[in-house]
Amino acid sequence: MLEKELIISQADIAGRVKELGAAISKDYAKSPLLVVGILNGSFIFMADLVREIQSDIEIDFMRVASYGMGTSSGSLRLTKDVESDIKDKDVLIVEDIIDTGRTLKYLRQSLEERGAKSVRVCALIDKKERREIDIPIDYVGFEVKSGFLVGYGLDCREQYRHFPEIYHLIDP
Ligand code: IMP
Ligand code: MG
Repeated sequence: MLEKELIISQADIAGRVKELGAAISKDYAKSPLLVVGILNGSFIFMADLVREIQSDIEIDFMRVASYGMGTSSGSLRLTKDVESDIKDKDVLIVEDIIDTGRTLKYLRQSLEERGAKSVRVCALIDKKERREIDIPIDYVGFEVKSGFLVGYGLDCREQYRHFPEIYHLIDP
């Protein structure tokens, strides 16, 4: 049997996503925004978050693959790029979880190199204590100290993404 412990309920997620959406709407009230969801992990968060944003947005997605085992490996590569033109746009990266920060660093660079006017980040979960690369996260849903999390888009070997709430996996 899957051993898991509930750490963030559906109601808590919904409440926090509303607040994040309100903050983003306020910050970008006067300028259009390109919201880029990072697949696969952000798919549920992204769907909920954009419906809480009242300002003008465009939506696109990117996907990164990492080589090697585990959650955070050294070598990264884009397997799906945005299809929108990024040049001179304000971009918001939407990620499920920031762990070491390597994926985020890679994504940021990729968008900045192509002339984005600004790049900000919204992450549902920040595992701050595991950070290896100091990189700012502008909008954070929840800070979690440690452990492997699943649900609300987060997976363990492509499983459990569909759980409506977030669990700490015991003995993954
Ligand atoms: P980073 O490059 O080390 O920050 O890794 C970030 C990526 O690793 C996330 O986008 C997730 O796909 C994955 N990841 C890290 N921690 C977890 C976790 O606790 N559960 C599920 N996926 C995770
Ligand atoms: Mg991810």
